Amino acid sequence: MKTYICEICGDAYLGEERPSECPFCGSRSAFIKDGNAANPITLMSEELSDVSKKNLEATLELEIHANAVYLCMAEKAGTYEIKAMYKRLAKVELEHANIACKLMKSYLPQVGEGFCNDEDAENFAETIKLEENATSLYAQFAKDATEKNVKIFFTALSQVEADHIKLIKNYL
Ligand SMILES: [Fe+2]
Ligand SMILES: [Fe+2]
Repeated sequence: MKTYICEICGDAYLGEERPSECPFCGSRSAFIKDGNAANPITLMSEELSDVSKKNLEATLELEIHANAVYLCMAEKAGTYEIKAMYKRLAKVELEHANIACKLMKSYLPQVGEGFCNDEDAENFAETIKLEENATSLYAQFAKDATEKNVKIFFTALSQVEADHIKLIKNYL
């Protein structure tokens, strides 16, 4: 067994093989390095531009909202599979909120209540909307960023949210 480290969330994955995605933040395998070679983005200290501060604040709000909405969807899920899938998505989005806080050197705010529909089909449609918005927003934020670590963060996140769309499309 080996130690792998995700450069986006900084968490360690212990296993025989590098996972195809980080189990904590969902980042693709290109961001998961052998433990001794990892350079986590949250350890790169860079002065944040006003644009990145604003974009990271917007990200925090969006991720906290997604966490609450996905927990609601997990509650309403029609099968255990869908419930477990939404609980994992909620944790992944909360992890994204945590990373945004680390980059801003701030604390995670209180998570409020999320709202959703009673039917899985409607929740899948809503999930795709949320994830499409996040995918394109983060691609733009990556372009806006002048700091190396913020650019890497938004590039990774845009991919993760695009992967979430693919995940939900399995259920349509
Ligand atoms: Fe990660
Ligand atoms: Fe996210």
